[in-house]
Amino acid sequence: MKTIVAPSLLSCDFGRINEESEMLNASTADWFHLDVMDGVFVPNISFGLPIIEAFRKSTNKVLDVHAMVVNPDPYILDFKAAGADQFTVHYEACNHLHRTIDAIKKSGMKAGVALNPHTPVYLLSEIIQDLDLVCIMSVNPGFGGQSFIEHTYKKVSELRHLIDATDSDCLIEIDGGVNLENAPKLIAAGANALVAGSTVFKSKNPSATIEALRN
Ligand code: DX5
Ligand code: ZN
Repeated sequence: MKTIVAPSLLSCDFGRINEESEMLNASTADWFHLDVMDGVFVPNISFGLPIIEAFRKSTNKVLDVHAMVVNPDPYILDFKAAGADQFTVHYEACNHLHRTIDAIKKSGMKAGVALNPHTPVYLLSEIIQDLDLVCIMSVNPGFGGQSFIEHTYKKVSELRHLIDATDSDCLIEIDGGVNLENAPKLIAAGANALVAGSTVFKSKNPSATIEALRN
């Protein structure tokens, strides 16, 4: 399977949303990764529904929403209406994860679960068959531009085994500190989708960097 590249718009220039979208639309980027932060689950506030709507108007590519919020349930239908295609919630933020995943799928979006660096992969063993995506956080969520946590490779391999053993077609997404050096190792460990914020938007040629991450 071709590796999916998902630039994180957290690192884009929000004064030039249409130009940033045009650049990504012309590139081989697969998904737009959109980081919603509430200032409670993570120590930062980013953006919410109006920005998702703005990106929806500017691209036909998949909008991959990463919700770093406590209690995402009341907003699931709002994110669907804003144009999200995939909605990823945090394991650590959901007391009734099975219900939340069910609600995301019933809304018509693909459902993902993100794991903080300290959260073990085995905690997903009873729900993996219901998931479209697991996002392994390779930094502590909240900010772009942080350093990749090396322990991530071990979690990717464990998750690969869990998914293969349950015969599910859940994708493995990696988020945080992804760069040209660790991307091939992540793909070798079993990752399917790479999120990259600063690596893409701080590079001289973002389109070439997107292609290089995949290869
Ligand atoms: C961090 C976000 C990431 C972030 C990645 O909480 O979930 O998506 O934008 O940025 P980089 O690639 O710069 O680490
Ligand atoms: Zn993210």
